[in-house]
Amino acid sequence: MKASVRIDTGSVIAPVDDRLYSSFIEHMGRAVYTGIYEPAHPSADEQGFRQDVQELIKPLKLGCIRYPGGNFLSGYRWLDGIGPKEKRPARPELAWSAIEPNQVGTDEFLQWCERTGVKPMLGVNLGTGTPQDAADMLEYVNGSLPTYYADLRRKNGHKEPYDVKLWCLGNEMDGPWQICGKTAEEYGRIAAETAKMMKWMDPSVELVACGSSYRDMPSFGEWERTVLQHCYKYVDYLSLHQYYQNNDGDRASFLARSLEMEDFIHTVAGICREAKAQQQGDHDIKLSFDEWNVWYHFQKDGKEPPKWTVARPIEEENYDMDDALVVGCMLNTLLRNTDTVKIACLAQLVNVIAPIMTEPGGKAWVQSIYWPFLYASRYGRGTALMPEVKCETYDCAIMNDVPIIDCSAVTDGCTLTVFLVNRSEEEVECALELTEQSDTAQITHVFFDDSVERPTEKDCGSYRAVKLPPLSWNMVRIG
Ligand code: AHR
Repeated sequence: MKASVRIDTGSVIAPVDDRLYSSFIEHMGRAVYTGIYEPAHPSADEQGFRQDVQELIKPLKLGCIRYPGGNFLSGYRWLDGIGPKEKRPARPELAWSAIEPNQVGTDEFLQWCERTGVKPMLGVNLGTGTPQDAADMLEYVNGSLPTYYADLRRKNGHKEPYDVKLWCLGNEMDGPWQICGKTAEEYGRIAAETAKMMKWMDPSVELVACGSSYRDMPSFGEWERTVLQHCYKYVDYLSLHQYYQNNDGDRASFLARSLEMEDFIHTVAGICREAKAQQQGDHDIKLSFDEWNVWYHFQKDGKEPPKWTVARPIEEENYDMDDALVVGCMLNTLLRNTDTVKIACLAQLVNVIAPIMTEPGGKAWVQSIYWPFLYASRYGRGTALMPEVKCETYDCAIMNDVPIIDCSAVTDGCTLTVFLVNRSEEEVECALELTEQSDTAQITHVFFDDSVERPTEKDCGSYRAVKLPPLSWNMVRIG
C-alpha cells in the first residue's frame, strides 16, 4: 500500500507547550504506596521514595504531574497529609474503597517533584471541601507572609514557598460516582468563588475548571457552557478526560477512537470561544486534557482485589501493542491541537493504568505505552505543523473513512520530526514531501511493532520514502 505525507514548514499550528507531556499520580491502588513510595524498598531514598521508579520517570521529561487525584481528591482532607507522619490519621477512602494512611501528603509529594525535576499540578477538593479549605491549602503551599498556614509549612520544614503555579478546581464534578458530585450550576458557583479566593491569595496561579468527565456524558456540552457562565472570568483552562476501550476485540474501531478525541477537542474549544464571545471576554480559555489513556483490561478480566486495605492493587493494566498504537494516535491528536491544548496528562504514571509498573519490594519495569510517550516527549518539542496526509481509508463499526495513516509533525527549527501510526495490517510505503529539507538531509526512522520489545532504529532506505510496518508506531527525523 502507498501513502504520502506533505509537510510545509509554513503550516504552523502553534508552539508545543512543555506541559503537553504531563502525567498523573493519584492516591489510588498502588500508584503512591508501593509505586513511587515504599520506604522498605532497597532503592528507597531517605524520604522513602523508590529511586528505581524515579529513574524510569526521569527520561519521560514530564512537564508536570497532577496530584493527588482523581476521584480521591473529592474526599481528601489535605490537613491529614501534613506534619509528623506518626500523628497522621488513617482514613476510609471512599472513592476506591481503600484505607488511606496519609504517609505521603503535600510536602512529600512536592519535595519528590523537586528531586525528580518535575513541576506539580495540584488539585483542591471541591467535593467535600470548601473554598476556604482551598485558599488555606494554597496559603500553605505558596504563602510568603507571616500567616498561619505559611508558618505551618515553615514549621513542617519547608521555609520557602513551593510556588506551585497550576491548580485544578476539583475533579470530574459531573460524575455520579464522584464524592459529593455537583450539578453544573452548583459546581460553576463553587468553582468561581474558589477561584476568586485563590487568585486573591496568589494572583500568579493558573486555574483549571472541570469540564465533562468524558465525551459521552449525557450533560456534555451543557455542562461546559454552564460552568463557564460562572467561571469564565476567573479560570484559565477547562479540563477534558477520555479513556478508550477495546472490550469487544474490534481492533479497527479501537484504532479509530483518536478521531473521536479530535472531535471532542474541537467541540470543547468551540464552547470556550463561545463563552468568551458571550461574556465579551478578554482572554482565551485553553484546554487541559488532564486525563487520557487506554483503560479496560483490568475491568474486562473481572478482577476485584479485597476492599479496605492500603494500596489495594486495582486497575493494573497489562498493555499490548494495540494500546501503544492508540496512545501514539492520541499523542498525534494532541500535537495537532497545540493551538488549544496546552496541558495533557497521561493517566496515570505508576501501577494504575500506567506505563510504569512495580513489584512491592521488587523490580520496576515499563510497558508498551511508555515508548510512544517517551519519544513524543523527547522529540516532539518546538512548533507543531499540520501534515497533509494522502492515504487509503477504511470503514469500521464506529465510523467511516478512517485514514490508514495517523500523523503529526514538529519542528525545532533544525530538525523535522514526524510521528506516524500505521493503522493497517499491511506495510505502507509512505512518501515524504517536505518543502524545506535539502536532498542531503539525514534521516532516522524509529519503529515499534509486535516484532520488537522497544522502538528500534531501522535502515530507512531513501530520504523520500519510509516503509511503515503493519500496525506500527513510527518516528522519522529529518535534518
Ligand atoms: O484515573 C483514574 C480515574 O479516572 C480518576 O480518579 C478519575 O478522575 C477518572 O474517572
